[in-house]
Amino acid sequence: MSRIHDALKRAEQERATSTGTHVEPTFDQPELRDELRENLPPAEATVMSTMTSGFNYESLLARCPQAAWSPDERTMLFFQENENRVGAEEFRTLRSRLYQIREKMPLKRLMVTSALPKEGKSFVAANLAQVMVRQHGRRALVIDGDLRNPGMHRHLGAAQSPGLADYLLGECDEFAALQRGPMENLFFMPAGRTVPSAPELLSNGRLKLFLQRVEPLFDWIIIDTSPVIPVSDATLVAGFCDGVLMVVRSNSTPSDLARRAREEFPDKLLLGVVLNGAPGKHGDSKYYYGEVVGSQA
Ligand SMILES: Nc1ncnc2c1ncn2[C@@H]1O[C@H](COP(=O)(O)OP(=O)(O)OP(=O)(O)O)[C@@H](O)[C@H]1O
Ligand SMILES: [Mg+2]
Repeated sequence: MSRIHDALKRAEQERATSTGTHVEPTFDQPELRDELRENLPPAEATVMSTMTSGFNYESLLARCPQAAWSPDERTMLFFQENENRVGAEEFRTLRSRLYQIREKMPLKRLMVTSALPKEGKSFVAANLAQVMVRQHGRRALVIDGDLRNPGMHRHLGAAQSPGLADYLLGECDEFAALQRGPMENLFFMPAGRTVPSAPELLSNGRLKLFLQRVEPLFDWIIIDTSPVIPVSDATLVAGFCDGVLMVVRSNSTPSDLARRAREEFPDKLLLGVVLNGAPGKHGDSKYYYGEVVGSQA
């Protein structure tokens, strides 16, 4: 029997002893189990034990207590009762377009990116996740995949860690890395602690396994990323996603850089381009709007 298996068994037994119950691992995805066993060093066996037993939406609800968030009222559009905030309608339109695309092809994991910093990636990803769960019974997970310059936790007013980096380092399990927000069926995985090795972590195999694991539990998984032009991280994340939403900031993003950014994902479906920060319909430039201006789907 392998060392990983021994460690896994030990971890299960320890967990069972500490809770006073005997928990038999339920390997509901044998191929995932085998991949995990082959790839994870023994030190990660404890993390793996939760990944392979009893991981379902009910356990997620039970193990992730509702976190107290203080969403930024200026940019987070769906936490209040007001359904008609400026920009909310554009996110509903974006949602409809994504559902239209989904009628034609499997679509669940979306990556949100842009060419440069500060173009509104986190703003778009966070609001998109919110508008998804505004529909009754829909579940969304939004992940801050920008390990270099995490920002989504600030938009949501949530804790930054533990989160993705801690999980990828094998320092916590998925229950600890996920937060359940005050909005029903909205989960958030923050970026976690700041790390110097984002590309190595994003490509160490655990993100792929994590996404396989959570995919059956959610209707939408939305991943916020670093900007494409300065660093390669978004290209790595794109490999795990069904399609890419590209954010372009109105009157700001140079068109050649937007084009170059798109060329970084030649094989990835471009779901649409969100024009962020365009003046309002009545010329009111005090507010920002998002608009889907193009889609290749
Ligand atoms: N449509 C919008 N309306 C109002 N404020 C916005 C809008 N889009 C972005 N902002 C503001 O602009 C700033 C940058 O937005 P955001 O954090 O979403 O960008 P980003 O592309 O994720 O940046 P980074 O590359 O640093 O992660 C934030 O302060 C955010 O609140
Ligand atoms: Mg951001």
